[in-house]
Amino acid sequence: MIHIKSASEIAKMRLACALTAQCMNIVETMIKPGVTTREIDKKIEDFLKVNGATPSFKGYNGYPASICASINEQVVHGIPSSRKLLSGDIIGIDLGAYLDGFHGDMARTYAVGDVLDDVQLLIDTAKDSFDAGLSNMVVGARVGDVSASIDAVIRSRGFTAVRSLCGHGIGRALHEEPEVPNFGTKGRGIRLRSGMILAVEPMVNQGTYDVYSLQDGWTIVTADGKLSAHYENTVLITDNGPQILTIA
Ligand code: MF3
Ligand code: CO
Repeated sequence: MIHIKSASEIAKMRLACALTAQCMNIVETMIKPGVTTREIDKKIEDFLKVNGATPSFKGYNGYPASICASINEQVVHGIPSSRKLLSGDIIGIDLGAYLDGFHGDMARTYAVGDVLDDVQLLIDTAKDSFDAGLSNMVVGARVGDVSASIDAVIRSRGFTAVRSLCGHGIGRALHEEPEVPNFGTKGRGIRLRSGMILAVEPMVNQGTYDVYSLQDGWTIVTADGKLSAHYENTVLITDNGPQILTIA
């Protein structure tokens, strides 16, 4: 069942998503060589607590941390650790605030210090493919229109869209129907309606789209060890077009 949000639910989603975006602004200031992903995790957990919220991910299917921190060939769901960021790394941070019964969800990929131009292009492609998807998030369009437009940008840059992980509906649950794949066929899938809230999250690989899970049971890595970038926002569909809710 796809849940269409009421005005009061949308109001609460706005607050959860705004707090999520405030978290990401804090993360952005912390991305420097020498910082550990555990330090970032702690800062966000504390910030959420002070603001009357909890991390959406902690305890989700047993996930052990407040944020996901995925470095280089790690695609998503990297567990924060004592690993220090190094100049030349790229790091995907995925986080969500659970506030007053509703979840926000967003992700960004940052370059640490200086990275090569083709690495910056990978990071930019994650955002650009999201933006292409966003432009199709209008009432009456289909999920396949969103998915196909994301993949078209990724392919045009010579990269690949991860296929085994998807965007999703979001609200009282972190993951609701429908799934929003990052590849697909225009004209297929359910129609978008006003009041739907979707987390759209392209995961873009330099090489093969194949991924696998590490022994820790969480970290997803590229099969060929090449880099991956992730970009995500929570988006409300309205009669006047899409609205990104994960904005501070
Ligand atoms: N943004 C991620 C997703 O939508 C959430 C991380 S999953 C968790 O899948 F288990 F780590 F919480
Ligand atoms: Co998500």
